[in-house]
Amino acid sequence: MPEIGIGMLGGGYMGKAHSAAMAAVGTIFETNLKPRLEMIGEANMELAEKYRQAFGYNRCTDDWRALVDDPAIGAIIIATPQRFHREIAEYAFAAGKHVLCEKPMGASLEDSEAMVAAAEKSGLINQVAYCYSRSPATQYARKLMQEGAIGDITWFRGEHTEDFFADVNEPWAWRCQGLANGCLGDLAVHLFNGALALMGPVSEVMAELQTVHPNRPGGEVTNDDQVHMMCRFGNGAIGHMHSSRVATGRKMGYCYEIHGTKGAIKFDQEDQNSIYLYRMDDPEAERGYRRILTGPAHPDYKPFCLGPGHGTGYHDMIVIESKDFLEAIDSGTPKWPTFRDGLDVARIVHAAVASHESKSWQKV
Ligand code: NAI
Repeated sequence: MPEIGIGMLGGGYMGKAHSAAMAAVGTIFETNLKPRLEMIGEANMELAEKYRQAFGYNRCTDDWRALVDDPAIGAIIIATPQRFHREIAEYAFAAGKHVLCEKPMGASLEDSEAMVAAAEKSGLINQVAYCYSRSPATQYARKLMQEGAIGDITWFRGEHTEDFFADVNEPWAWRCQGLANGCLGDLAVHLFNGALALMGPVSEVMAELQTVHPNRPGGEVTNDDQVHMMCRFGNGAIGHMHSSRVATGRKMGYCYEIHGTKGAIKFDQEDQNSIYLYRMDDPEAERGYRRILTGPAHPDYKPFCLGPGHGTGYHDMIVIESKDFLEAIDSGTPKWPTFRDGLDVARIVHAAVASHESKSWQKV
């Protein structure tokens, strides 16, 4: 059975999620390539040793370059804050290592362009961790759209809303400064990736950003708390997207509703095991949104559970993502979303900022 040594950078929220996923994926998806939790890198040795023990890595380090250079490591997972992503990714590709990078890929458009260049020059597997587009429900929605189930698309409404910064007394943290760490750069990017998956390219945007709570205990907030934008898609449809980290009451509002000439689809991540489908050709008296509970008939569900409606959860999307990353390495064929797809998201962010500053429509 072929094995690959995993080098994890960052043991925080997402470092833990990716470690748990890599520990589980070989069993759940019975992947041919088996991951080995080889080494975890953290900001200091105390944290590194703590996470090594907690997550089950063989070794740990406080030097990310030493981790990347280690000959027992075949693939790197970047789960550090975004300001490190570019430097680590460039170094990893130069060292011949495959990379799964947390979103947003780069901390700026320039970083993202450089990361795509490094990835493509290396010929190694590169993937961006936009986990929400991998839920069985959203994968199924994507399939329905591609099959033309709702006809020609006329309107897209999407949101990514949460309330983790709704309380003005929530202390200052790294997410309070830098464009890439604000609502647009850090949160809305999930929605943009989802919109690209479901609708295809975004051609133009008209956006507005806002900081709702400029001061928090411990410091000043210098990036945005919420953003909304009108958009035009390459397929001719128009629509609206909004995102907020101060959306009181919203815990995981990754939602979309898409209208077409033959029907409509809607989804809400707070109800992540359901997809709602409306078909115009149903008998008139029965026409209405139909709730479809995900089950073994939907993409990537069956390996988790044989029972329809039993459901998958947040960590399962990361397991699916890990499976795709390992399969890509094993087959030598990259899986969506690659770094180039991550760049498409960065271009929407860039256009949104330009639109906010110029108060005008901007091409993506
Ligand atoms: P976090 O703050 O919980 O963890 C980041 C970890 O990186 C910390 O433990 C920190 O000590 C460590 N770190 C900092 N500098 C380091 C260095 N030089 N070498 C090694 N480790 C270092 O942050 P979180 O929430 O885990 O975010 C990490 C990344 O994941 C970010 O890019 C973020 O945007 C993304 N993210 C993705 C989510 C998703 O659903 N896909 C959800 C939350 C975050």
